[in-house]
Amino acid sequence: MSHYFENDDSLKSEIKDFEINIFDNHFIFSTDNGVFSKGELDYGTELLIKNILNLNLSGKVLDLGCGYGPIGIVLKKILNVDVTMCDINKRAIHLSKMNAKKNHVLVNVIESDGYENIDDHFNYIVSNPPIRIGKKNLYKLLIDSKDYLSDNGEMFIVVRKEQGALSLIKDMSVYYSVKTIDKSKGFLIISLKKC
Ligand SMILES: C[S@@+](CC[C@H](N)C(=O)[O-])C[C@H]1O[C@@H](n2cnc3c(N)ncnc32)[C@H](O)[C@@H]1O
Repeated sequence: MSHYFENDDSLKSEIKDFEINIFDNHFIFSTDNGVFSKGELDYGTELLIKNILNLNLSGKVLDLGCGYGPIGIVLKKILNVDVTMCDINKRAIHLSKMNAKKNHVLVNVIESDGYENIDDHFNYIVSNPPIRIGKKNLYKLLIDSKDYLSDNGEMFIVVRKEQGALSLIKDMSVYYSVKTIDKSKGFLIISLKKC
């Protein structure tokens, strides 16, 4: 069985669209097999987006592991920040570019394994991170993020308690100033601030 973060060309494409209103803005998203959360906005992703919107960020934002693009596209449309989105999965990159056009936003979408094709610094990095790549790879992705944050930059992630959020908070405290900024239905919104 292939995972949503793997490139699997043999996986049949079956595009499924859905529409959603967020903070009085209407969005349409195309999703597909082989990409995270087909057919619906993931609850954790939605909680993360709503927390970020309430913070009213400005500056440069990276959506790390963008999938079909909900985080970057919503932030671009509502906050009009400068958005870069990246993912290792080619189908996710294709969908993100398509969804940016459908929702009339201009964003920079880059195929990248972690930060390998990213050559910039960001005020904020936002991610529903790929827990399924395993703790070692996940921690590397989160620790590497520090080098791509500007001074005082901050990363916001959503992690389920049952997927190790509490130990992640403890382990990341060595690298970042860590705070939990919201909790709902077992999902934690965590801020990792460069210090
Ligand atoms: C939990 S999904 C979140 C997708 C999307 N942001 C959302 O919230 O619907 C994590 C994403 O990280 C991507 N990913 C996994 N490993 C990666 C890596 N090494 N570099 C970049 N992206 C990766 C996966 O392909 C997947 O799209």
